[in-house]
Amino acid sequence: MKERSLGNTGLKVSEIGFGCWAIGGNSYGDVRDEDSMKALETAWSSGVNFYDTADVYGEGHSEVLVGKFLKGKARDEIFVATKAGWNFYPPSRKSAQRGEAVSGKVHRSHHYKNFGPAYLRFACEQSLKRFGVETIDLYQLHNPSLEQIREGDAVGVLEELKREGKIRSLGISVHTEEEALAAIEDPRVEVLQVIFNLLDQRMKEKVFPAAMRRRVGIVAREPLASGLLTGKYAPAHEFPKNDHRRRWVAEKREIDWEKIRRLRETLEGKNIPLQQAALEYILAFESVATVIPGAKTGTQVTENLRSFVAPRLTAETFAAFKKLYDTEPVFGQGLIPR
Ligand SMILES: NC(=O)c1ccc[n+]([C@@H]2O[C@H](COP(=O)([O-])OP(=O)(O)OC[C@H]3O[C@@H](n4cnc5c(N)ncnc54)[C@H](OP(=O)(O)O)[C@@H]3O)[C@@H](O)[C@H]2O)c1
Repeated sequence: MKERSLGNTGLKVSEIGFGCWAIGGNSYGDVRDEDSMKALETAWSSGVNFYDTADVYGEGHSEVLVGKFLKGKARDEIFVATKAGWNFYPPSRKSAQRGEAVSGKVHRSHHYKNFGPAYLRFACEQSLKRFGVETIDLYQLHNPSLEQIREGDAVGVLEELKREGKIRSLGISVHTEEEALAAIEDPRVEVLQVIFNLLDQRMKEKVFPAAMRRRVGIVAREPLASGLLTGKYAPAHEFPKNDHRRRWVAEKREIDWEKIRRLRETLEGKNIPLQQAALEYILAFESVATVIPGAKTGTQVTENLRSFVAPRLTAETFAAFKKLYDTEPVFGQGLIPR
């Protein structure tokens, strides 16, 4: 597996990492822990050394599984990244009361955004326990608002955690270009996690060049557009209740399906599956340090690793994809408003 530098962190991460949201079990339909463990081990045995999760994925469950997976492996050979800022601890628990007053909108029944110092410190301790490690390789703020990024207070807390040896490097996971640019302006921020895939390439215009200039490492998330770029979800597909994709509205689904039709048309006769081309396309951007497809099974991991094991995307197809996105009006539609 090829490795790239994650900005200035000193971490050499595999080009393809592993996104651990689905294995948390509460957002991508049903998953079985034995399949999730197999997926993690398959990735590891193929050279994947970067695993991205968040405390809130499965309310700690994803981190618990990653902790199990870490057992018995040389700690300096695996990089574990997690995020904090969504307080999911039931309010009745004493531990949660140590967090500061909740702020921001309610996500699920008891999920609140909280980037206060006491809460972040508490959350970091919980993540360390779930992983069973002394240091987290990359600790990220989980979708703070633009104001919270600009204030910079939460980054200050992460800096303290770094000085104390609880985390090795710090980053921010963001939604919008504006948030990404604000994060890059903070000289303490070492890593930025952004959405980047064939359907949403907004970050390539200003954010990637700015990150390159400042040597901020880019982690490209949702590379398969939450599974859409496998081509298996026609607009009529019904997602189960415990699947976040159930929230996609009909109009967006029709537009995305048309984009997928156009992308597939471009691949006709080229003998490369869309999902593989989708991952290779992202890897072609040198500003991206690692791309982190989520996977629920070992088979999905193996399929996704084909983009590394047997790359097939030619410069001509890369250019055709880029042109489609940059010039075809449909690609400017159906994007989540930022
Ligand atoms: N705010 C944030 O910070 C944030 C937000 C989102 C994601 N992330 C991170 O980014 C990672 C990647 O994003 P993501 O997992 O949401 O989306 P993704 O990587 O675009 O898509 C992952 C999903 O696609 C399907 N899939 C993957 N490989 C496949 C294959 N070979 N064949 C068929 N289906 C396949 C699986 O779901 P099905 O089989 O059910 O379709 C899988 O759960 C996350 O896991 C998480 O670590 C961070």
